[in-house]
Amino acid sequence: MTTGIVGGDVKQGTISVLVGCHSPVHSVLVIISWKKLFGHWPKPWQIVCIFLHDIGHWGLNYLDDPEQKAHHWRLGTRWAGRLFGWAGACLVGGHCSRSPHKRSELYKPDKYSWYIAPRWWLWLNCITEPKLTRGHKRGEAIKRFQEQVRQSIESGEYGSTHQMYLERWNAKPTNARGKKGDPK
Ligand SMILES: [Fe+2]
Repeated sequence: MTTGIVGGDVKQGTISVLVGCHSPVHSVLVIISWKKLFGHWPKPWQIVCIFLHDIGHWGLNYLDDPEQKAHHWRLGTRWAGRLFGWAGACLVGGHCSRSPHKRSELYKPDKYSWYIAPRWWLWLNCITEPKLTRGHKRGEAIKRFQEQVRQSIESGEYGSTHQMYLERWNAKPTNARGKKGDPK
């Protein structure tokens, strides 16, 4: 099934990796989050892993099918393993709670990246990946998503952002407009 600005039978995840919410912009936000959370920048090999961690969305209809989303960690983990051995595989695999890997150092920066994501970029993502709004107005969908992310990060929960996307309209809206403290 096609979605987004590209025609033909391009999959949702392919668009996402190229120009959507799993594009290199996301990886840059993850790198910035790493610095914010740990107080130092990731090492060069870790930066490469960060840019690889979500490439597994390629070829998946990840918005329509949660089961496909569950496998998105595999491709990046394989590549990181080839390049950096077991440490690379563990770092990438451990960013996703659906993988058999233990949570890695990448897990929290990956979630935190949505906390610092600029609204204009979330807006652009809703244009390249219209299904992100789940049929709601863009502004409303983004506001709801940001509210959930804020609650998840500031409570220290660091929940799955994809789960938030799926449950956004079931969850009660919060008024948790807390301070932007470091939730470490
Ligand atoms: Fe990610």
